Amino acid sequence: MELIEDIGILDNTKKEEHCEVRISKEGDIAAAKKLYIESYGCQMNFSDSEIVTSILKKEGFDTTSSFESADVILLNTCSIRDKAEQTVRKRLTQFNQIKKDRPEITIGVLGCMAERLKSKLLEEEKIVDLVAGPDAYRDLPNLVRKAEEGDRGVNTFLSREETYADISPVRLNSNGVTAFISIMRGCDNMCSFCVVPFTRGRERSRDPHSIVAEAQELFNNGYREVTLLGQNVDSYKWSPEENNKARLEKNEHANSIVNFANLLEMVAKVHPDLRVRFSTSHPKDITDEVLHTMKQYENICNYIHLPAQSGNSRVLELMNRTYDREWYINRVDAIRSILGDECGISSDMIAGFCTETEEEHQDTLSLMDYVKYDFSYMFYYSERPGTLAAKKYTDDIPLPVKKRRLQEIIRKQQEISFARNRQDIGKTFKVLIEGTSKKSPKQLQGRNSANKVIVFDNNDFKKGQYVEVKVNECTAATLIGEVI
Ligand code: SAH
Ligand code: SF4
Ligand code: F3S
Repeated sequence: MELIEDIGILDNTKKEEHCEVRISKEGDIAAAKKLYIESYGCQMNFSDSEIVTSILKKEGFDTTSSFESADVILLNTCSIRDKAEQTVRKRLTQFNQIKKDRPEITIGVLGCMAERLKSKLLEEEKIVDLVAGPDAYRDLPNLVRKAEEGDRGVNTFLSREETYADISPVRLNSNGVTAFISIMRGCDNMCSFCVVPFTRGRERSRDPHSIVAEAQELFNNGYREVTLLGQNVDSYKWSPEENNKARLEKNEHANSIVNFANLLEMVAKVHPDLRVRFSTSHPKDITDEVLHTMKQYENICNYIHLPAQSGNSRVLELMNRTYDREWYINRVDAIRSILGDECGISSDMIAGFCTETEEEHQDTLSLMDYVKYDFSYMFYYSERPGTLAAKKYTDDIPLPVKKRRLQEIIRKQQEISFARNRQDIGKTFKVLIEGTSKKSPKQLQGRNSANKVIVFDNNDFKKGQYVEVKVNECTAATLIGEVI
């Protein structure tokens, strides 16, 4: 019945020659403009693309997986490191030919690079027709319409309230089993290396009732795992007083502050068969209350992404992470004592931050040995314009040194991951099946509670099903087992 919506949109469709004509069962003729959207960067961005798609679907767009046939091409971009921006610039040049062949096509840049560069992007990239920052997506129908009329537009207004709580995301590239739910936006931390507070604006939490409703809807549609997303989920805080005056007037939930532990519990209660994950936890904010809530509910997964960035207290201070090595170790000890050794822990690490010495780099390696991370995302420092570090410190570690330190960190992580996986051999885990294995169609893959990927033979199991898998072998990245 979505065709009815499509017909309503026909009137303002200016590019009939590129409209796909579809005939419904009833014989109605409808045209849908085609949207192609590509996402870069973190899970937040991928989740935002699902909101963008939902907004444009209401305007009559259908998604397409081929940009050649699209009427609107959107790139949802990332600014976290220089390389991330270069990737997008390269991608834009690949669209030059399409724009030459079909000048009426609309090309838009969304996300963090849009927010950082604003109208400069229009000056620098001639093929770009519209620029929209992360809080401006409700304005996209208007920006697209203007672009179609030949008016290049920019909206990079950052909001203190926008959470898109009322928009039901259209799940893209979904396996039908796992989904992301955005629970907050922005970031109020000022890590000196990081561009996110500038590109995503102030931190704000989304109404918990809309989060629970989204989780419930996903469960009803067959999904069995949700990941609650935010730059710093542990500082999630919502109260009717602060966040929603209208509700307060109705005297609903007055005086009730919902913190992250409360939210986790609310989502866990949706259904015992719905797994709950979350990312990212900030070491300064993760509380014992959250750890106890994780322990209390079997369906809250035993896995914490707890980025350390560095193992050295002086470097952490320069990074403005607001914790030191001892504090970080104390949080890891709390995880181990409350949730046990089987709780998965992962990290982000930055090699070669401003003024980092060889000894300080060694502290990062020794922290990795102490924590025994299951997994890490590892980077070398990339200076970002406008950040505190760019203003205050010199980016003085030569690139070859940064790269060598990064290699040492990567090698260390591989050793630890392999050792951690070897410990799992002989153990049996409850695994949620996500689909066929990437390497072999005869095998299925899923993850255990600690977020480890497990591959096993397909004996007519279905994705979305839970199975007990005994681990027989492993690599540094994957466990290999059999269903028992
Ligand atoms: N909110 C998350 C991180 C989001 S950005 C947190 O606080 O942990 C993801 C990761 O990118 C960061 O954890 C950091 O390791 C890395 N990163 C951010 N800025 C960077 C920079 N300028 N150079 C290199 N890596 C960076
Ligand atoms: Fe960036 Fe720090 Fe915020 Fe993470 S917590 S997004 S690293 S400023
Ligand atoms: Fe990149 Fe923005 Fe995410 S800078 S990492 S897409 S918040």
